[in-house]
Amino acid sequence: MTTLKPGDLARIDLTLNGEAVSGHAEPRMLLADFLREKCGATGVHVGCEHGVCGCCTIVMNGVAVRSCLALAVQAEGAVIETVESLAPDGTLNAMQEAFRKHHALQCGFCTPGILMSLIDLLRRNPKPEREEIVHVVGGHLCRCTGYSNIIDAAMDAINGTAK
Ligand code: FES
Ligand code: FES
Repeated sequence: MTTLKPGDLARIDLTLNGEAVSGHAEPRMLLADFLREKCGATGVHVGCEHGVCGCCTIVMNGVAVRSCLALAVQAEGAVIETVESLAPDGTLNAMQEAFRKHHALQCGFCTPGILMSLIDLLRRNPKPEREEIVHVVGGHLCRCTGYSNIIDAAMDAINGTAK
Protein backbone atom coordinates (compact mmCIF):
# COMPACT_ATOMS: atom_id res chain seq x y z
CA MET A 1 0.00 0.00 0.00
CA THR A 2 1.29 3.44 -0.92
CA THR A 3 1.23 6.02 1.84
CA LEU A 4 0.60 9.52 0.59
CA LYS A 5 2.27 12.48 2.25
CA PRO A 6 0.70 15.94 2.46
CA GLY A 7 0.82 17.48 -0.98
CA ASP A 8 1.07 14.14 -2.80
CA LEU A 9 -1.46 13.40 -5.50
CA ALA A 10 -3.23 10.08 -5.85
CA ARG A 11 -3.72 8.56 -9.28
CA ILE A 12 -7.30 7.54 -9.99
CA ASP A 13 -8.41 5.30 -12.85
CA LEU A 14 -12.08 4.87 -13.51
CA THR A 15 -14.64 4.38 -16.24
CA LEU A 16 -16.67 7.49 -16.94
CA ASN A 17 -19.66 7.23 -19.26
CA GLY A 18 -18.14 4.20 -20.94
CA GLU A 19 -14.63 5.56 -21.36
CA ALA A 20 -11.52 4.85 -19.33
CA VAL A 21 -10.20 8.01 -17.71
CA SER A 22 -7.28 8.70 -15.40
CA GLY A 23 -6.43 11.68 -13.28
CA HIS A 24 -4.60 12.83 -10.18
CA ALA A 25 -6.20 14.28 -7.10
CA GLU A 26 -5.28 15.36 -3.63
CA PRO A 27 -6.48 12.72 -1.19
CA ARG A 28 -9.19 15.03 0.17
CA MET A 29 -10.57 16.09 -3.21
CA LEU A 30 -14.30 15.45 -3.53
CA LEU A 31 -15.45 13.12 -6.27
CA ALA A 32 -17.80 15.82 -7.56
CA ASP A 33 -14.89 18.22 -7.98
CA PHE A 34 -12.73 15.54 -9.58
CA LEU A 35 -15.41 14.73 -12.15
CA ARG A 36 -15.94 18.39 -12.99
CA GLU A 37 -12.40 19.70 -12.86
CA LYS A 38 -10.30 16.74 -13.95
CA CYS A 39 -12.73 14.86 -16.19
CA GLY A 40 -14.76 17.68 -17.72
CA ALA A 41 -18.07 16.25 -16.53
CA THR A 42 -19.56 19.65 -15.78
CA GLY A 43 -23.07 18.21 -15.77
CA VAL A 44 -22.22 17.21 -12.21
CA HIS A 45 -23.50 20.26 -10.36
CA VAL A 46 -22.35 21.22 -6.90
CA GLY A 47 -24.74 23.05 -4.62
CA CYS A 48 -24.64 22.39 -0.91
CA GLU A 49 -21.52 20.19 -0.77
CA HIS A 50 -22.92 18.25 2.16
CA GLY A 51 -25.36 15.76 0.75
CA VAL A 52 -28.60 17.71 1.03
CA CYS A 53 -29.53 19.21 -2.35
CA GLY A 54 -28.88 16.23 -4.65
CA CYS A 55 -27.46 18.35 -7.50
CA CYS A 56 -24.30 16.27 -7.63
CA THR A 57 -26.00 12.88 -7.93
CA ILE A 58 -24.30 10.39 -10.24
CA VAL A 59 -24.58 6.64 -10.69
CA MET A 60 -21.51 4.84 -9.38
CA ASN A 61 -21.22 1.09 -9.77
CA GLY A 62 -24.93 0.94 -10.50
CA VAL A 63 -26.09 2.96 -7.50
CA ALA A 64 -27.13 6.61 -7.32
CA VAL A 65 -24.75 8.46 -5.02
CA ARG A 66 -24.10 12.05 -4.05
CA SER A 67 -20.68 12.74 -5.39
CA CYS A 68 -20.05 15.52 -2.88
CA LEU A 69 -20.13 12.89 -0.15
CA ALA A 70 -17.43 10.72 -1.72
CA LEU A 71 -13.75 11.35 -2.15
CA ALA A 72 -12.23 11.04 -5.57
CA VAL A 73 -9.88 8.35 -4.31
CA GLN A 74 -12.88 6.22 -3.34
CA ALA A 75 -13.81 6.03 -7.02
CA GLU A 76 -10.65 4.15 -8.00
CA GLY A 77 -11.76 1.42 -10.42
CA ALA A 78 -15.38 2.55 -10.33
CA VAL A 79 -17.84 2.67 -13.21
CA ILE A 80 -19.44 6.11 -13.15
CA GLU A 81 -22.31 7.55 -15.13
CA THR A 82 -23.13 11.24 -15.18
CA VAL A 83 -25.90 13.13 -16.94
CA GLU A 84 -23.65 13.37 -19.99
CA SER A 85 -24.22 9.64 -20.52
CA LEU A 86 -27.92 10.16 -21.20
CA ALA A 87 -27.45 11.96 -24.50
CA PRO A 88 -24.05 10.94 -25.85
CA ASP A 89 -24.79 12.16 -29.38
CA GLY A 90 -26.82 15.15 -28.27
CA THR A 91 -30.19 13.45 -28.72
CA LEU A 92 -32.22 13.70 -25.52
CA ASN A 93 -33.31 10.45 -23.97
CA ALA A 94 -36.96 9.84 -23.13
CA MET A 95 -36.70 11.26 -19.61
CA GLN A 96 -34.91 14.38 -20.77
CA GLU A 97 -37.45 14.82 -23.55
CA ALA A 98 -40.27 14.54 -21.04
CA PHE A 99 -38.63 17.20 -18.87
CA ARG A 100 -38.50 19.49 -21.91
CA LYS A 101 -42.11 18.78 -22.81
CA HIS A 102 -43.43 19.37 -19.27
CA HIS A 103 -41.29 22.44 -18.52
CA ALA A 104 -39.78 20.49 -15.67
CA LEU A 105 -36.80 22.80 -15.37
CA GLN A 106 -36.13 26.49 -15.30
CA CYS A 107 -32.54 27.25 -14.34
CA GLY A 108 -31.74 23.54 -14.66
CA PHE A 109 -29.27 23.49 -11.80
CA CYS A 110 -31.02 20.64 -10.01
CA THR A 111 -31.89 18.74 -13.18
CA PRO A 112 -28.82 16.52 -13.76
CA GLY A 113 -29.04 15.09 -10.27
CA ILE A 114 -32.77 14.44 -10.51
CA LEU A 115 -32.34 12.77 -13.87
CA MET A 116 -29.67 10.44 -12.53
CA SER A 117 -31.79 9.52 -9.51
CA LEU A 118 -34.73 8.76 -11.80
CA ILE A 119 -32.54 6.66 -14.08
CA ASP A 120 -31.39 4.72 -11.03
CA LEU A 121 -35.01 4.20 -9.96
CA LEU A 122 -36.10 3.00 -13.40
CA ARG A 123 -33.30 0.45 -13.56
CA ARG A 124 -34.50 -1.04 -10.29
CA ASN A 125 -38.18 -0.70 -11.13
CA PRO A 126 -39.14 0.09 -14.74
CA LYS A 127 -42.75 0.86 -13.78
CA PRO A 128 -42.66 2.75 -10.49
CA GLU A 129 -45.79 4.16 -8.95
CA ARG A 130 -46.17 7.93 -8.69
CA GLU A 131 -45.46 7.70 -4.95
CA GLU A 132 -42.06 6.15 -5.63
CA ILE A 133 -41.21 8.98 -8.00
CA VAL A 134 -42.34 11.51 -5.43
CA HIS A 135 -40.09 9.81 -2.88
CA VAL A 136 -37.05 9.94 -5.18
CA VAL A 137 -37.62 13.49 -6.41
CA GLY A 138 -38.30 14.58 -2.83
CA GLY A 139 -34.65 13.89 -2.08
CA HIS A 140 -33.66 16.77 -4.33
CA LEU A 141 -33.95 20.49 -3.85
CA CYS A 142 -35.36 22.52 -6.71
CA ARG A 143 -35.63 26.17 -5.91
CA CYS A 144 -37.46 27.29 -9.02
CA THR A 145 -39.60 24.83 -10.95
CA GLY A 146 -41.76 23.24 -8.32
CA TYR A 147 -42.06 19.52 -8.17
CA SER A 148 -45.34 18.74 -9.90
CA ASN A 149 -43.97 19.27 -13.42
CA ILE A 150 -40.94 17.12 -12.63
CA ILE A 151 -43.14 14.29 -11.38
CA ASP A 152 -45.50 14.64 -14.35
CA ALA A 153 -42.50 14.46 -16.68
CA ALA A 154 -41.23 11.31 -15.04
CA MET A 155 -44.65 9.67 -15.22
CA ASP A 156 -44.91 10.63 -18.88
CA ALA A 157 -41.50 9.15 -19.68
CA ILE A 158 -42.30 5.96 -17.82
CA ASN A 159 -45.58 5.51 -19.64
CA GLY A 160 -43.81 5.95 -22.94
CA THR A 161 -45.77 8.93 -24.07
CA ALA A 162 -43.04 11.58 -23.94
CA LYS A 163 -42.30 12.97 -27.36
S1 FES B 1 -23.86 19.25 -3.75
FE1 FES B 1 -23.99 17.16 -3.27
S2 FES B 1 -25.90 16.94 -2.31
FE2 FES B 1 -25.71 19.08 -2.63
S1 FES C 1 -34.85 24.13 -12.13
FE1 FES C 1 -33.76 25.65 -11.00
S2 FES C 1 -33.23 24.61 -9.16
FE2 FES C 1 -34.50 23.21 -10.19
